[in-house]
Amino acid sequence: MPGVVVVGAQWGDEGKGKVVDLLTQRVDAVVRFQGGNNAGHTVVVGQDKFILHLIPSGVLHENKSCFVGNGVVVDPEVFIAEIDRLEQRGVDVSPRKLRLSERAHLIMPYHKALDVAREKAKGKSAIGTTGRGIGPCYEDKAARVGVRVVDLLEPEILTEKVRAATTEKNFWLKEYFGAPTLDAEAIIADYLRYAERLRPFVTDVSVELDHMLESGGLVLFEGAQGVHLDIDHGTYPYVTSSNPVAGAASPGAGVGPKRLSGVLGIVKAYTTRVGSGPFIAELEDENGRWMQEKGAEFGSTTGRPRRCGWLDTVVVRQSVRLAGVSCLCVTKLDVLTGLKTLRICTAYKLDDGSIVERIPASLGVLARCTPIYEDLPGWEEDISQARSLEDLPDNCQRYLQRLAELVGAPLALVSVGPERDATIVVRDPLAVKEA
Ligand code: IMP
Repeated sequence: MPGVVVVGAQWGDEGKGKVVDLLTQRVDAVVRFQGGNNAGHTVVVGQDKFILHLIPSGVLHENKSCFVGNGVVVDPEVFIAEIDRLEQRGVDVSPRKLRLSERAHLIMPYHKALDVAREKAKGKSAIGTTGRGIGPCYEDKAARVGVRVVDLLEPEILTEKVRAATTEKNFWLKEYFGAPTLDAEAIIADYLRYAERLRPFVTDVSVELDHMLESGGLVLFEGAQGVHLDIDHGTYPYVTSSNPVAGAASPGAGVGPKRLSGVLGIVKAYTTRVGSGPFIAELEDENGRWMQEKGAEFGSTTGRPRRCGWLDTVVVRQSVRLAGVSCLCVTKLDVLTGLKTLRICTAYKLDDGSIVERIPASLGVLARCTPIYEDLPGWEEDISQARSLEDLPDNCQRYLQRLAELVGAPLALVSVGPERDATIVVRDPLAVKEA
């Protein structure tokens, strides 16, 4: 059981941070393989709350290796600030513990400027990006003009690349978007400074992971965002620019697919989404407001309120298929306590009366869909102290059973509160065998 991937099965913010933190106690290493500081993983340790955007949440544990893989886009300023903040709070973030892939692409100031300018120009059809430069950085990677971590260690190459890129980006910023331009020499000076801070962390992540896996190590691959924000499989174009599906852990960290032998899908007990895009089970009533308030549904990266809705099993079922989910972790179940009736979306109905059981690729078709709900009775009892399924009220157990049945994967963990120990272990997610 060498490599286990944790993925979000909805639109991100499922509570992956807590689960990764919990499982980290039993693994040797934690690896990020896609996304960047658009992510925000919240971890509560005792009285302390940590929000991590780029560094794997495994860093909060002693003696665990944390890797930022080549598939991640790294804003060096954010990476350094995150290290500094953690160290100020007494967390060891030495290069012995944290490793950064030399092949990862760097988010540059012009990526952030373009992200913001492009969103502004889109007006009403804006994606609602986090404005962190994620999309433009992945664009440059695909266009083969990106700046990589390794370039920081070769000042001449860095200088040449930044000058060329800034000339082109300034043209777009000034002539197309009417936005302020950037000074290449200032960027180069800043990035050469970052280089000195980052140098000790830089490594060939693929080689280090290979050694670890060859010697019997257990590695956790920490997905960011969620399957429905996947650039290929999500609600395009309302997606992020990476692949949050589990398979992306292979190219994004430089490990062969056979190393990945289990996939834990994290499912919030209801649905949330930040930014624009289709959301069939969305609620704009008191139930939605309940979820937003009780679940504190505000983005940990941008602070934006998250859109809330009932659990949509069309969404999760599709994630189980796309990510090869072998077992589930249901989070924030306690948020639903007190709601009289709970609804689960089991399928969609098209305006011609036909039933839709998977998410159509066409946003036009999706816009013609309405949710089909199954109603289940809620529960009133406080569940935050439950530590086994039997401790849960019958209606709560039924809700979980129905969820697992409808999405087609077994339950492994159920989270009933933000703390590490507020968790029910149904089966060991690190012991799930290859399907
Ligand atoms: P980007 O990743 O900043 O380009 O944003 C693209 C879309 O993905 C927007 O709708 C964002 O709100 C959403 N998004 C990006 N990262 C996260 C995340 O970690 N959680 C939830 N939504 C996210």
